[in-house]
Amino acid sequence: MNDQFTLVTGASKGIGRACAERLAGAGFNVIGLARKQPSEEFPGEFYEVDVADREALTAFLKWLTKEKPVVNLINNVGLAGPELLQDVTSETLDRVIETNLVSAILCAKYCSGAMKKSRQGRIINISTELILGAPTRTAYGGAKAALASVSRTWALELAQFGITVNTIAPGPVDTEFFLQNNPVGSDIRQQKLDRIPLGRFATPADIANLANFLMSPEAAYITGQIFHIDGGSSIASAPLF
Ligand SMILES: NC(=O)c1ccc[n+]([C@@H]2O[C@H](COP(=O)([O-])OP(=O)(O)OC[C@H]3O[C@@H](n4cnc5c(N)ncnc54)[C@H](OP(=O)(O)O)[C@@H]3O)[C@@H](O)[C@H]2O)c1
Repeated sequence: MNDQFTLVTGASKGIGRACAERLAGAGFNVIGLARKQPSEEFPGEFYEVDVADREALTAFLKWLTKEKPVVNLINNVGLAGPELLQDVTSETLDRVIETNLVSAILCAKYCSGAMKKSRQGRIINISTELILGAPTRTAYGGAKAALASVSRTWALELAQFGITVNTIAPGPVDTEFFLQNNPVGSDIRQQKLDRIPLGRFATPADIANLANFLMSPEAAYITGQIFHIDGGSSIASAPLF
């Protein structure tokens, strides 16, 4: 595992950071990226890259994949940009689609070269339960649904090389990202909590545990799947009888 690398995007905080820590603890060589260095020491190499800057991201990926074989990838970076349909702006659309979808496609495109060469690899795309539909999430839900869709396409294209591709679709996870849109004490935060049968928001570690399993040899036969990890919220509206 030591001469091979695992790239985690958006790795300085939240879910990405938890995945980086979990995987580094399991012996993976982790490479993280975000716009700014993390405030605490990172368990691996770290690079400052803005994934919404397509040229900068492409240049970084070309350099990185020439220097180091990246055989595992977690496309985690994301941005919500909530707007009602009538208020959708092209600036938000561009930024949300570039950050959530285009960056993931570019990372997979460049990293899959080394995966194919070594005839192994894991790609995990972090989507959201909101692909099931949510008010104000035209750009975000659309981009994340497309991410879940391209995961299945890549799973089909890459299976012949021993590469698996899966999607994790979390419900609410207590991170800065979630806090911004759902401040402590707000009605919306409480309403979301009330919809979770298991009675709590996910922690970043809950998501990292699943990512770690999907990276493990035990998950070698799992590909093209969407994992809703949400404390049961996606089934909470099932009819009672
Ligand atoms: N939290 C939730 O409730 C929840 C639920 C479902 C899905 N998700 C998804 O899970 C993923 C992670 O969310 P999170 O809650 O962990 O977010 P978070 O705590 O806000 O962390 C986001 C990470 O991405 C980095 N980042 C943001 N924009 C970037 C950019 N343009 N270029 C490079 N790095 C960038 C941030 O660092 P910098 O700011 O320094 O760049 C940070 O490391 C996202 O894709 C999100 O859509 C989250």
